Amino acid sequence: MKILLVAGARPNFMKIAPLVRELRARTEAGKLGSWEDKTLFSNQTNQKNEKNEINYKIVHTGQHYDEEMSQVFFDELEIPAPDYHLNAGSGTHAEQTAKIMVAFERVCIEEQPNIVVVVGDVNSTLACSIVAKKMGIKVAHIEAGLRSRDWSMPEEINRVVTDSVSDYLFVTEKSGRENLLREGKRPESIFFVGHVMVDNLLYIKSRLEDTKLGSSEIGKLKKTLGEYAFLTLHRPSNVDDSETFHGIIAALNEISKDLPIIFPVHPRTRNALSRFSIRVSHSIHLLPPLSFLDSLYLWKDAKLVMTDSGGLQEETTALGIPCFTIRENTERPITIEEGTNTLVGNSKEGILAAYNEFKSGKKKIGIVPELWDGRASERIVKILSEFSVH
Ligand code: UD1
Repeated sequence: MKILLVAGARPNFMKIAPLVRELRARTEAGKLGSWEDKTLFSNQTNQKNEKNEINYKIVHTGQHYDEEMSQVFFDELEIPAPDYHLNAGSGTHAEQTAKIMVAFERVCIEEQPNIVVVVGDVNSTLACSIVAKKMGIKVAHIEAGLRSRDWSMPEEINRVVTDSVSDYLFVTEKSGRENLLREGKRPESIFFVGHVMVDNLLYIKSRLEDTKLGSSEIGKLKKTLGEYAFLTLHRPSNVDDSETFHGIIAALNEISKDLPIIFPVHPRTRNALSRFSIRVSHSIHLLPPLSFLDSLYLWKDAKLVMTDSGGLQEETTALGIPCFTIRENTERPITIEEGTNTLVGNSKEGILAAYNEFKSGKKKIGIVPELWDGRASERIVKILSEFSVH
């Protein structure tokens, strides 16, 4: 059986890493004959009970291309070099999506895969799922079913369209299952498996060497600051509108008087800061985009994380770190209901009000959501390996 694993943008890389690790481990164990559960690879319809070996290839669409937005994640997360690089690059949504579709169709024609696996909600996810479906190839969507109900978010459109053409819907939290059932998806196509991003987080955390990073520039910064907040911002709804972005930074400048802030800046945000001539306080420490390890090294010990990312909302819940989500909504409600996440909106007043409550000692104590146990990839690969090519 042939699988194409698609990744294109920064938040995709940490999601394919544990899948590749799992696929590799199973392939190796199969070759050595030591894989305990060989029935996983046995093809049910094959009389000879031959192993249904999984052959996988990695496709990088090139949606993110800077070294610090892409290659560094492949290196750190031990992802092998992609078999195909589509070099799509930036552009308008239509341009970017179209470039990926044209290039990915050629790959599918050449490879004739049985399943295309897409992750998350970026333009690469949407583009490749549509191409595969139109070619009669099965589509597996990892992180399916999340809904913000906010149609101004490009990711919401990507999520809904991708799910509508997917044959395997792997969900990270129960709301995903409920949303998909409400939209008419067949229950047999929905699999609640936990979260591959948590698999990756736990794996990398167990390998994180604090002592090694301690002498680096970020190590020195961490030591000097002692207590700090960690911030990421890149949503168009926050940084592409001058008034909104000014308001957010005004609140953060105020907070930084009390608690210094470490802020690795996304390229979109860096452009907006200079375009709108926004002044950032000296207590907000601006850094270039960080690698996964460097970022984790900083946020895991932060007093507070503030973000508009989808992934960090979940990762902070997985490690029990307080998180403010600077948005009006979230497609990840479990992080609010069970985890450490608080939706604070994107107005200056809202952010400051939440911070004042936090400062007065009102901190959320969360629990780790069901199945966020580091074994989602194992569950997914098991389900995919039962796919019959006959
Ligand atoms: C994309 C995803 C978003 C995800 C985010 C994580 C979509 C619709 N959006 O948003 O869901 O949370 O990635 O980063 O898919 N740029 C560079 N170098 C790069 C990549 C981009 O400088 O390697 C700059 C370009 O100026 C580009 C801008 O960043 O125009 C935005 O990049 P793009 O991939 O279009 O969207 P993101 O904001 O990164």
